[in-house]
Amino acid sequence: MRRYLNCLLLSLIGFTQIFGQGNNYVQNYNKFEGLALTPPMGWNSWNKFSCNVDENMIRQMADAMVTTGMKDAGYTYINIDDCWHGDRDSLGFIHPDAKRFPSGMKALADYVHGKGLKLGIYSDAGSQTCGGRPGSRGYEFQDAMTYASWGIDYLKYDWCNTDGLKAEGAYKTITAALRRAGRPIVLSICEWGNDKPWTWGQKVGHLWRTTGDIYGCFDCIKDNGSWKAWGVMQILDMQNGLRQYAGPGHWNDPDMLEVGNGGLSTSENRAHFSIWAMLAAPLIAGNDLRNMPPQISEILTNKEVIAVNQDPLGIQGFRYARRDSIEIWIKPLENDSWAVCFLNRGRAAGQLRFDWQKELIKDSLSNRVLNAASATFTLKDLWLKKQTGDTRQPLDITIPGHDVFLYRLSKRN
Ligand code: GLA
Repeated sequence: MRRYLNCLLLSLIGFTQIFGQGNNYVQNYNKFEGLALTPPMGWNSWNKFSCNVDENMIRQMADAMVTTGMKDAGYTYINIDDCWHGDRDSLGFIHPDAKRFPSGMKALADYVHGKGLKLGIYSDAGSQTCGGRPGSRGYEFQDAMTYASWGIDYLKYDWCNTDGLKAEGAYKTITAALRRAGRPIVLSICEWGNDKPWTWGQKVGHLWRTTGDIYGCFDCIKDNGSWKAWGVMQILDMQNGLRQYAGPGHWNDPDMLEVGNGGLSTSENRAHFSIWAMLAAPLIAGNDLRNMPPQISEILTNKEVIAVNQDPLGIQGFRYARRDSIEIWIKPLENDSWAVCFLNRGRAAGQLRFDWQKELIKDSLSNRVLNAASATFTLKDLWLKKQTGDTRQPLDITIPGHDVFLYRLSKRN
């Protein structure tokens, strides 16, 4: 009997050793939850500076984020885009370019954290970044550990030089690596919408690019030969059909802001910012925060427009109607409020009479109805920053070309 028991015990031990080995760690392919519950807000170096990044400039940008009032308005992330990289060492660990970042990334992260801000960095799922720097392919876990040890808070992960990779698998790999490294890091999926990341990205990352790169014009296409960059209107039209995928912790990303980069007029900047607010898009400024004319900082720090973007319900807005050159965009907000944006896509001024009493605005996605015939809403003009009547009277407006009127509607008690 004892021999029989010994035998059983030995086979049990053998069994667990053979079949248990390697099974005691299971990869976690799910992003960190609880991050980016409203669209991320911050600044990124690419749109204005492309590859010209260094630690002095990043520090100055963190300083400017505070002194310009951007931090107070809700912007948090200082994100270094492409070209911060030096080489990998003989063990494969990545280092920043020693000339541009002589103090190292940990010191930079400490500086940025000292300002009450967060630091973001950039890598690529392929062998090289789009700017030809070392990519993370084959080094995912090592890179994630390195970023965590530096104190990085946000990773934008690009899609150049990814021959043979499948996007969902590649992004799940970096997610598993970030989980393993243990530091909660926002993951920005940047594969330009090629593989429909909205269909698989919700558990993997916190935001995903829906399009190719933005270009600083209102309504144009920039043909770069092998790839195209898109104006604000072109990007807007590419968001059709995607709003159902967005929500707290997982956002459609129509790319970073071009506000203040010179390609747009003041009204176009205002329209661009308003549309990104209506789309619940990440608000990642892309201009030089150190030299902002007042009309630009007034746009970027308009708290009530930002509140439309940051509304806790996280419902992406939708196009309700088109009247000639004017589009009417609607976004349901908390407390039975609504944001309504009238966008004039034409170059000439456009006139509109909008009789709230005759419009029944239904949002089947959020199951909300804006019916001004059964309740009265007050209107606040968010750019003029003043109350302007209520929904008992029709709205009569003349919208300059490439401009918007943006209102918050609040239910009257
Ligand atoms: C791609 C991305 C851009 C930027 C550059 C950097 O084009 O879409 O946002 O990060 O790479 O090289």
